[in-house]
Amino acid sequence: MLSPISDKTFFLQVFGCQMNEHDSERIAGMLESLGAIQVPELEESEIVVFVTCCVREAADTRLMGQVASMKNVPLPQGSKLDKRIVCIGGCIGQRDGAKLMEKLPHVDVVFGTQNIDRLPRLIESVLVGKGHQAEVYEASEKFATDLPSKRVHTWAAWLPITSGCNNFCTYCIVPYVRGREKSRTIEDVAAEAQALVNDGVKEITLLGQNVNSYGRDLYGEPRFADVLRAVSATGVGRIRFATSHPKDLTDEVIALFGELPNLMPALHLPVQSGSDRVLKAMNRRYTAEHYLDLVRKVREANPDVALSTDIIVGFPGETEEDFQATANLVREVGYGQVFTFIYSKREGTPAAKMEDPTPREAIQRRFDELVDIVQEGAHEQNQRFTGRVLDVLVEGTSKRDEDVLAGRSPHNVTVHAPIPAGKTIDELEGTIVKVRIDESLTWYLSGEVVDAE
Ligand code: SAH
Ligand code: SF4
Ligand code: F3S
Repeated sequence: MLSPISDKTFFLQVFGCQMNEHDSERIAGMLESLGAIQVPELEESEIVVFVTCCVREAADTRLMGQVASMKNVPLPQGSKLDKRIVCIGGCIGQRDGAKLMEKLPHVDVVFGTQNIDRLPRLIESVLVGKGHQAEVYEASEKFATDLPSKRVHTWAAWLPITSGCNNFCTYCIVPYVRGREKSRTIEDVAAEAQALVNDGVKEITLLGQNVNSYGRDLYGEPRFADVLRAVSATGVGRIRFATSHPKDLTDEVIALFGELPNLMPALHLPVQSGSDRVLKAMNRRYTAEHYLDLVRKVREANPDVALSTDIIVGFPGETEEDFQATANLVREVGYGQVFTFIYSKREGTPAAKMEDPTPREAIQRRFDELVDIVQEGAHEQNQRFTGRVLDVLVEGTSKRDEDVLAGRSPHNVTVHAPIPAGKTIDELEGTIVKVRIDESLTWYLSGEVVDAE
């Protein structure tokens, strides 16, 4: 029987991390396999799906604002529906469940992070007149089975190897909305990687909240290094992974940065703070010294690895001295990129109950100071690329100039170069070009294409 979803148009709005990006690819894949059509604008859609994030308060507020404000956007011409079907999934859906409909009565479907496979059925129920549907499952024991996926780019793919998180950093909501850590079997991961390569994918990013603890639930041993070797053996051009917890990054994995030719020289290693006192209160279970030791080992294995990190400023009770320890660590490591966040209180987490006497202005000043240090550091790090010829995977054109291609170097740094004469961006997208770097700026490198694939 033809699904009532068939021929309906849908618009996906995604917030949050790569887990949500990947879940969204599966949502798009499922809806399209039932005959629905993805559209690039809300105005053209009959169904809208918000895949949400609640890691910081700003994300919550933004979602509420967007869902409330879209209420008056008319349906596209020719639609046979009375109103647009509004669906909320992802981490806010998981956390709030049916309660969301009290705050936002025009929402039709609420689903969670554990039952995205149920979304088509829930939409169908609304379409056949069964009224609002809210369905959120407790986190499941097993890794979700494969669902059809519609990749945003043909040449790059996310490949989840674990879901959930067992770390319970005291500030973080993720373990509560994504459940316990579950690993996919290595055979499954290798088979999907091979299928992606056969499908023409050039870059695979392995995903997990903490890829380094992969396999603990399956084999009782950390085995992320084995996954890296298995994916490397498929011959895929580029392998990346996110995210790594410093407490679980092993020497074996570090050594692979000097051994596997297709493991890209880029490591995202969130430090969160440079103060041991704060790290302890965050339940991160490593010290600044241990972290710096890891950095040294990574650079010994491969001096070209570009490091990036996440930092939280203003964790409850953070003193000026704690902050200076963070600033010093950032200067010492030399990061190519740092994602800086002001601490955001999340109800239900242990840190939400901690005393926080620091005035807002002091935190903002620390944050601004850190951003300056980060920019200076990134500029300095990027100088080492000037004069080098880098392999750049072309992703499209620069936002500001249609005649300039934009892509990423192996180090995950954005590179810009004028599109060579006689070539179009359509021909170049998804291919690797060699770019000679003439100038290294804080946020990107620019140069000339010296050889196209
Ligand atoms: N699993 C990943 C991170 C997921 S959340 C990891 O551990 O590396 C992404 C980042 O958001 C975190 O690294 C942290 O820096 C930030 N973050 C998480 N909770 C936060 C909060 N309550 N306030 C501010 N930033 C937060
Ligand atoms: Fe959150 Fe910590 Fe788990 Fe990362 S490791 S998702 S920061 S609890
Ligand atoms: Fe946000 Fe959920 Fe990811 S809270 S950061 S989308 S796991």
